[in-house]
Amino acid sequence: MSSTQNLAADQRYAGRLRLLHWLIAGLVLATWPLGLMIGFVKDDVKLDFYLIHESLGFLVLWLMLLRIGTRLTSQAPLVDAPPLEKAAATAVHGLLYVFLIVMPVSGFLATNAHGFPLQWFGLFTVWSPIGKSPDIAFALSAFHEWSAWILLGLFALHFAAVIFHHVVRRDRTLYRIL
Ligand code: HEM
Ligand code: HEM
Repeated sequence: MSSTQNLAADQRYAGRLRLLHWLIAGLVLATWPLGLMIGFVKDDVKLDFYLIHESLGFLVLWLMLLRIGTRLTSQAPLVDAPPLEKAAATAVHGLLYVFLIVMPVSGFLATNAHGFPLQWFGLFTVWSPIGKSPDIAFALSAFHEWSAWILLGLFALHFAAVIFHHVVRRDRTLYRIL
């Protein structure tokens, strides 16, 4: 019997939440380095990096909205842990949710404020509530960039916690999401 089968249904995330966790994790782990690379690649491919970074990142926004809806309407798995650990996990998970919305929204508003509406994978132009606004464009960019580093820090804490549970404690935390 596999370790995931040993977990009771109420100790695992619902199937849709597990799928969304890995879809979004994969997208974010691709979008983040692509965003950083924009500043380093040669001019002839820069626009391609912008396009792929922005289009993948924008997908994260819609998947996160779906995830929040799913999370609010399905039973969260039970956690058997000391109160302080529970609070730490809830805080990091909650902040990850917040920054996974803040990131795509700030990037989207920044690119529109700079006067470059998002052409999603070159297929269509996404409607934006703001047009070219040079007075706020750089503030939005700075906000997007700072948020990216905060998100990286949160992910580092998240990943360290998973490794701690799996390798040091050898408990079944990882299987809750598999
Ligand atoms: C999960 C979603 C996203 C993540 C994790 C992310 C991450 C990043 C990172 C790490 C950078 C480089 C920061 C630096 O140089 O210090 C960046 C830059 C950038 N991102 Fe994103 N991004 C996301 C979504 C988006 C979206 C949806 C758009 C636009 C539609 C966007 C537009 C930009 C732009 C234009 C830059 C260049 C710097 C700037 O002018 O702000 N990003 N992003
Ligand atoms: C790359 C390897 C990753 C592993 C091994 C992993 C593992 C896990 C595990 C085991 C849980 C369940 C924790 C618990 O039940 O207390 C979880 C939840 C979560 N993970 Fe990850 N994760 C990874 C990547 C990511 C990434 C890249 C993000 C976002 C940037 C992320 C965001 C979240 C969030 C927000 C939750 C809480 C879900 C909820 O309560 O609805 N994870 N992850």
